Amino acid sequence: MTILVTGGAGFIGSNFVLDWLAASDEAVVNLDKLTYAGNPENLASLRDDARHVFVKGDIGDYALVLDLLTRHRVRAVVNFAAESHVDRSIHGPEDFIQTNILGSFRLLEAVRCYWNGLDDAEKNAFRLLHVSTDEVYGSLAKTDPPFAESNQYQPNSPYSASKAASDHLVRAYHHTYGLPVLTTNCSNNYGPYHFPEKLIPLCIQNALSGKPLPIYGDGQQIRDWLYVKDHCSAIRRVLEAGRVGEVYNVGGWNEKANLEVVHTLCAILDELQPRADGKSYAEQITYVTDRPGHDRRYAIDAGKLERELGWKPAESFETGIRKTVQWYLRHQDWVNNVLSGDYQSWLDKNYANRHG
Ligand SMILES: NC(=O)c1ccc[n+]([C@@H]2O[C@H](COP(=O)([O-])OP(=O)(O)OC[C@H]3O[C@@H](n4cnc5c(N)ncnc54)[C@H](O)[C@@H]3O)[C@@H](O)[C@H]2O)c1
Repeated sequence: MTILVTGGAGFIGSNFVLDWLAASDEAVVNLDKLTYAGNPENLASLRDDARHVFVKGDIGDYALVLDLLTRHRVRAVVNFAAESHVDRSIHGPEDFIQTNILGSFRLLEAVRCYWNGLDDAEKNAFRLLHVSTDEVYGSLAKTDPPFAESNQYQPNSPYSASKAASDHLVRAYHHTYGLPVLTTNCSNNYGPYHFPEKLIPLCIQNALSGKPLPIYGDGQQIRDWLYVKDHCSAIRRVLEAGRVGEVYNVGGWNEKANLEVVHTLCAILDELQPRADGKSYAEQITYVTDRPGHDRRYAIDAGKLERELGWKPAESFETGIRKTVQWYLRHQDWVNNVLSGDYQSWLDKNYANRHG
């Protein structure tokens, strides 16, 4: 048996692949375009592992996806592949439309074609799990209840709008064609292999390099935070036991304002790697102009996933954030590699004459 993971060289996808192969012998075909956010170094420990087949390619390449599904007799697809950074979607939405909407559509078409050719038992057992975000639900006021699966979609950024569009397509392929799909909408993840353009790894890195820790606006934007390995365990659980056609919200019950998150990071760094001058890293906090249209609050009600499938996060914010800081302190080579652009030139060299 084999699963196809898309976007498995990115932050969450690579954590998922590593955790999957640590827990199971079921092979993984990993399809990733290796955009700036995809990093094969995340998967270095699988280099000689025959259970992991890496293919550089686009989810929008119908022929390639169909070939992979057929050749590897795939029994499930987990779709992580996406453009994922809200700020980048504001500067240039085009890539988000291409991958998150058109790419997801072509992936669905290839899966539909493959699935139609399976026998009844294989058809029934097959799953496509689409990984999405809580951002599709829009922004909450301070006293609003957390997002439930029944909340209206009100995406506010090109990123969340493109993810919302892909969620709708996934839903439609179930209702129209009977494709056995599952969708998860998760809150903000943090943990190992997080690309250092996002708040938590950016602040850890800037703190250590003596640079400002940029806080958008007043820093009171509230997010629910989930340790990435808990997101991965939720996806495994939904894939295993989720009801076909259903949506499951995934969250950590950890609502925190951005400023609080950064103060927590500074306190842990003060303890684990104090500044040479004895001052707190919090001195480096700097307020910068807010992101246009910045959503004020996201909060997730993960009660359905807990009740129906018995899933619970293993980490609290306090334990997860400490593990994350420790990971970044131990993996400065990984961060420097990403930041230096070395791995981009390595990729160009490595893939110049290769085909998936
Ligand atoms: N990071 C979060 O906090 C979070 C929270 C909820 C949901 N999500 C969703 O989870 C998924 C993964 O997020 P992430 O943070 O790991 O993102 P990421 O940007 O770190 O990784 C995305 C991966 O997808 C690959 N990719 C991009 N376009 C592709 C294409 N056309 N074909 C094949 N591969 C392509 C990239 O190379 C990269 O490896 C996304 O769908 C995102 O919307 C993320």
